[in-house]
Amino acid sequence: MTAFHAIFLGAPGAGKGTQAKKLAGVSGCLHVSTGDMLREHRSQGTELGCQAQGYMDEGKLVPDGLMVEMVVERIARPDAADAWILDGFPRTGEQALALDRAVDDSAGGITHAVFFDVPHGSLIDRLTGRRTCSQCGAIWHIKFKPTSRDEICDDCEGALVHRSDDNEAVVEQRLSAYRTQTEPVLDYYRDRGLFCEVNADQAPDAVFEDLGKVMLKEVG
Ligand code: AP5
Repeated sequence: MTAFHAIFLGAPGAGKGTQAKKLAGVSGCLHVSTGDMLREHRSQGTELGCQAQGYMDEGKLVPDGLMVEMVVERIARPDAADAWILDGFPRTGEQALALDRAVDDSAGGITHAVFFDVPHGSLIDRLTGRRTCSQCGAIWHIKFKPTSRDEICDDCEGALVHRSDDNEAVVEQRLSAYRTQTEPVLDYYRDRGLFCEVNADQAPDAVFEDLGKVMLKEVG
């Protein structure tokens, strides 16, 4: 099987998780979300979860050493042999270099670096109105993707939660970390001819359609 190793890049709230879940659902590839993994560690009270907690609560990036170890271990497991989407990683130059070392040509390399482009002004509304299902992880929005019953997931009837870092003050800090630490990573992939860009400032189904088109097109 040809390797499919996609990374999803974009600001907090750009829709990476929404699109990655959908693509993984229709294609069967593995969806690896570093934010979800960290939240899982936190809820289980692991050492990594405790170490990450303060950074996440303040909207700062968790240190590279912790992130690289967690991701490299995850994509080395048998279920990640052929096809995966990395959602939320890499977010720094150091993480991008470490990913290249872990997924070199013999492992099929990175095949797509997809950037979800959304103007800054839309991001705050998207994040502060987001609700996530505590049971199945489905992503909703009070305005843009409401559930039929308040605070109950349409997919599994689980209770919806409002992420603690989705308040305006922490969102500003997350956007600032994105601008200073993650935006430079886009050029790293542009220079390597792996970059493709999706207009993510349109309805989710239209974004998904564009995503399919850019991923099928020859990248670079
Ligand atoms: P993480 O959980 O990865 O958060 P994030 O990058 O800030 O991304 P989000 O999950 O907020 O947004 P998204 O792009 O997935 O948008 P979504 O689809 O949900 O990371 C959390 C924290 O963990 C970080 O702050 C950091 O501390 C740490 N961390 C994680 N990875 C790290 C790393 N590599 N290095 C260091 N630290 C790391 O959509 C958002 C909302 O918009 C939803 O409500 C959705 O319904 C709605 N929406 C989606 N698409 C559309 C659309 N097209 N139109 C209208 N609304 C839409």
